[in-house]
Amino acid sequence: MKLTEGKSRQVFATESKDEVRVFHKDDETAYNGIKHVIIPGKGIIINKISAILYETLERNGIATHYIRTIDDRQQLCRKVDPIRLEFIVRNYAAGDMTERLDVKTGTKLSIPVVECCYKSDELDDPIINRSYAIALGMASREELDLIEEELGHINLVLTSLFHEVGIKLVDFKVEFGRLADGTLLVCDELSPDSCRLWDEQTGDSMDRDRFRYDLGNVGEMYEEVLRRLSNFINE
Ligand code: C5P
Repeated sequence: MKLTEGKSRQVFATESKDEVRVFHKDDETAYNGIKHVIIPGKGIIINKISAILYETLERNGIATHYIRTIDDRQQLCRKVDPIRLEFIVRNYAAGDMTERLDVKTGTKLSIPVVECCYKSDELDDPIINRSYAIALGMASREELDLIEEELGHINLVLTSLFHEVGIKLVDFKVEFGRLADGTLLVCDELSPDSCRLWDEQTGDSMDRDRFRYDLGNVGEMYEEVLRRLSNFINE
């Protein structure tokens, strides 16, 4: 039974009430789904990259929803109660931030910037602050404290992993969900669709910006990210 369908993933129930099956589609979207294309085989690449990223986080003591890869396109994950917030961590200025604040793309931020957005397609995921999130019952103060600490840790682990393969982690988006006992887990998408990745040598985008800004070779660049990560992991 299908439980939910997003822009690039479908989530199915399993025999266990505590686990779900996540299927990665070939859809590539931008601007809240206004721009959309099918990239044949993209779901297979995303499935593999996402598994490497989740396994790296787990190895570094960060709890995630990922259990194991089932096949080319699917992962077995723990079922969580999703928190309706998206957290964006920025190491360099890019994308929305450069337009909102008139900061030059590529400016190194002296500390990582964390943004909290209300997850709503209808409202285009507006940025909110902690007091809104607490006042509107989206997360507790204690949960936000834990999340903030975890975001710093995730940023260090992913920045270091990507640096090992010659890629600069410019920014990324993560989401969290709760288990029945309240434990927080990183969940949802984690891939070049939800990160900005720049080649350290050439500065080329290796992420969803290739599609957003019509830079071409989207699938090829995602494959290159996978190739580098796989080589590093298998060294
Ligand atoms: O668009 P913006 O500059 O705010 O995006 C920051 C980072 O978060 C980018 O890596 C983008 O791909 C990711 N993001 C996402 N899903 C959203 C919004 C942003 O994956 N709904």
